[in-house]
Amino acid sequence: MKHLLKMLDLSSEEIIDILNLADQLKYELKHGIPHPHLKGKTLGMIFQKASTRTRVSFETGMYQLGGYPLFLSSNDLQIGRGEPVQDTARVLSRYIDGIMIRTFEQKEVEDLAEYGNIPIINGLTDFCHPCQVLADLMTIREFKGSFDGLKMCFIGDGNNMANSLIVGGLKVGMSVSIACPDDYQPPKVILDFAKEYGDKFEMTNSPKQAAKGADVLITDVWASMGQEEEAEKRRKAFAGYQINDELIAEAKEGAMVLHCLPAHREEEITEKVFEAHANEIFEEAENRLHAQKAVMVKLMA
Ligand code: CP
Ligand code: NVA
Repeated sequence: MKHLLKMLDLSSEEIIDILNLADQLKYELKHGIPHPHLKGKTLGMIFQKASTRTRVSFETGMYQLGGYPLFLSSNDLQIGRGEPVQDTARVLSRYIDGIMIRTFEQKEVEDLAEYGNIPIINGLTDFCHPCQVLADLMTIREFKGSFDGLKMCFIGDGNNMANSLIVGGLKVGMSVSIACPDDYQPPKVILDFAKEYGDKFEMTNSPKQAAKGADVLITDVWASMGQEEEAEKRRKAFAGYQINDELIAEAKEGAMVLHCLPAHREEEITEKVFEAHANEIFEEAENRLHAQKAVMVKLMA
């Protein structure tokens, strides 16, 4: 494993390896056991979109690993004035030991990996959000003990989160069901991947069908970063794709609810369901830190 660009690139073994290391790092942190695996290393963090969790968890995580995080806003970098990613990659490769980037196009992240010679970590693109999904998988395993026989369902937009959850969920052995409106399905490359898993994958436009017997229900905002102008149109398209008590009633008793955050209460999830599952949702947010530390150690130590 040289980079973390998308879940499609990881083998099931690599995912489980990252989750195991994440569990260990979480244990060590909670028990005051130092783990300075990245002493003397520097991580550049390029943000072309807003962030709370990704920025703070990477920055803190790098510090806890003994390394140095460098926050690079695209507003201040020459990238924001049109310097090509290929050149930025070749320059940064000479100064720092790894790059985490949050941007729009997946191609930009793939280009950084191709032209630079240091590990690249995808901190979210329009296509996928692998760091979040590693944390989600870690949280599911933490609460459920194992992935065996679990059904995960995603309700809402076939977006970056849906894409990564479908791939990650299937790769660790869960059944995955997704409910989305016809015009908001995940891209073909994801559906083609999922088809190989036969009846372990289901896509429907009935949220109730997707939620039936589910062990884990997951949703995300209806308008992602960069789609703000379409928000009203999307609100109409996704009416009925809300995680609420009625939908929870279809799921298995004791089902978990996850949300990558930030959440829009009373849109994709009701306040009531959100607060009833706040312990799972905020553990999920915390696990960003541990999962990403594991990724950095695997790539940069
Ligand atoms: N879930 C997530 O990636 O949060 P931020 O946008 O705050 O980083
Ligand atoms: N789908 C959301 C996820 C935010 C973490 C977005 O891209 O804005």
